[in-house]
Amino acid sequence: MRLGGKRAVVTGGSDGIGMAISEAFLREGADVLIVGRDASKLEAARLRLTDPGLAGKVETLSADLATNPGIAAVVEHVAASGRPLDVLVNNAGVAYLVPFETVSQAQFQHSFALNVTAAFFLTQGLLQHFSSAGGSVINISSYFASKMIPKRPSSVYSLSKGALNSLTKSLAFELGPRGIRVNAIAPGTVDTAMRRKTVDNLPSEAKTELKAYVERSYPLGRIGRPADLGGMAVYLASDEAAWTSGGIFAIDGGYTAG
Ligand SMILES: NC(=O)c1ccc[n+]([C@@H]2O[C@H](COP(=O)([O-])OP(=O)(O)OC[C@H]3O[C@@H](n4cnc5c(N)ncnc54)[C@H](OP(=O)(O)O)[C@@H]3O)[C@@H](O)[C@H]2O)c1
Repeated sequence: MRLGGKRAVVTGGSDGIGMAISEAFLREGADVLIVGRDASKLEAARLRLTDPGLAGKVETLSADLATNPGIAAVVEHVAASGRPLDVLVNNAGVAYLVPFETVSQAQFQHSFALNVTAAFFLTQGLLQHFSSAGGSVINISSYFASKMIPKRPSSVYSLSKGALNSLTKSLAFELGPRGIRVNAIAPGTVDTAMRRKTVDNLPSEAKTELKAYVERSYPLGRIGRPADLGGMAVYLASDEAAWTSGGIFAIDGGYTAG
């Protein structure tokens, strides 16, 4: 198994991309702590991920990572376990795809609190709990950091994911000497609750237009499934990626190749 004996934290592991990454890690033998806010979603995820086919053990923790107490709760939980950490996946995120002129202070602050501040201070708080052999931090970014979609206003989301990409590169430099590798995965559109929430609110004409845009823009002809992200996450978490740091890896069906 590629992650046997490793311990991972996956934020937002109770749904979507985070759950798929957690499942891939467990299959490869890692023990995984998944963090989310909703206790019932966490319990449903725990039951789904407690499977004889998955070699690792799953644990859950309810915490709101858009708050300082939520970040502190994760750090305390890892510290109390007394077991060193090998992998941190900063995956929990929020996307307000609303026109620039309507972005509220609350939406701006929430975007930064979860997409940027949580990744920054959770990584900082967990630093001393990483294994002395080093580790891997994986930030889940988005193509929206650099590629926009017509009629899908993304100013605050793009800004926050651009900041996450900068953090990925700067931490690769700062943490490299400690043996901690820092990379980001930039998914294309993936069919998750987050995506459905933003698309469901569109008027029907815009939905039709978006569907046609997707069909002609993805060389592989479809949007992603959460499981499509598992392989790259396992690679980045594993010792196979021992010389891979500072990368922002597009996993997007070829969408950003053009
Ligand atoms: N889906 C896409 O098309 C797409 C594309 C590119 C990048 N991404 C990025 O991929 C990541 C995951 O997105 P997704 O589509 O998988 O989302 P999702 O299906 O909506 O799942 C989000 C997960 O994060 C948790 N979460 C949300 N707010 C939280 C908070 N304040 N504190 C702790 N946990 C929180 C959710 O659980 P609770 O609600 O219970 O807290 C859930 O487990 C995000 O960073 C997103 O920006 C997504």
